[in-house]
Amino acid sequence: MTGDGPARELVIVGAGGHGRELFDAATRAGRPVLGFVDDSPTGENRARVDRLGSAILGDLAWLEAHPGPYALGIGTSAARRRLAARLDAAGARAATVIHPGATVGPDVRLGDGVVIFDRVTITTNVEIGAHTHLNVGCAVQHDSTLGAYVQLSPGVFVNGDCTIGDDVFCGTGAIVTRGCSVGVGARVGAGAVVLDDVAPGTTVVGVPAR
Ligand SMILES: CC(C)(COP(=O)(O)OP(=O)(O)OC[C@H]1O[C@@H](n2cnc3c(N)ncnc32)[C@H](O)[C@@H]1OP(=O)(O)O)[C@@H](O)C(=O)NCCC(=O)NCCS
Repeated sequence: MTGDGPARELVIVGAGGHGRELFDAATRAGRPVLGFVDDSPTGENRARVDRLGSAILGDLAWLEAHPGPYALGIGTSAARRRLAARLDAAGARAATVIHPGATVGPDVRLGDGVVIFDRVTITTNVEIGAHTHLNVGCAVQHDSTLGAYVQLSPGVFVNGDCTIGDDVFCGTGAIVTRGCSVGVGARVGAGAVVLDDVAPGTTVVGVPAR
């Protein structure tokens, strides 16, 4: 399932691990993938893309010259911001990709370019901003808001009534407990348990997160 209308062929930006997992999510969602673009694919990644039965079409300029639906297979917020700005200016359009193994409840509003991987659960009344990615096994619960370009690594739990600012990074297995805010651009380390609000631009680690 995708959130941007009838199926059209999708181009994935980035042939690294995140991009190839995104290829799998899109394919399982029934979304035909035309191929990948990558400015500097390694030989290994070319071979891995080949083994997926896909191909590297060219660099980002190729997609700018052939604008169409795209998804950003890039794990870092800053790079996603930069690439989305370039592609949107060229008239390309960010697709929303939802792996069919994910559960998305009612009144969940998703921005353009949101990517939701396998076994993610989003319950009810949640808002997620553009180009935010939820990696495998994340959970986001009632009345929470995630900003744009957020990166939730595998297994992150965001409990109810939380606010996650734009460009926040949460490492694998982090937990943001009920009602907490994580400020714009903050980083939450792998395995951290957030019990209090996290100031914008700061990094917190540990249990409890400090
Ligand atoms: C929090 C994080 C972003 C900080 O990265 P960083 O700024 O490069 O920090 P450093 O690695 O220099 O570590 C700084 C200190 O914090 C400690 N630390 C780092 N991450 C930690 C974590 N998750 N939990 C506990 N302590 C941690 C380090 O041991 C180090 O301690 P020291 O000063 O006593 O030696 C990073 O460590 C992290 O947790 N990344 C998550 C990775 C991840 O899950 N990726 C997902 C890929 S899909």
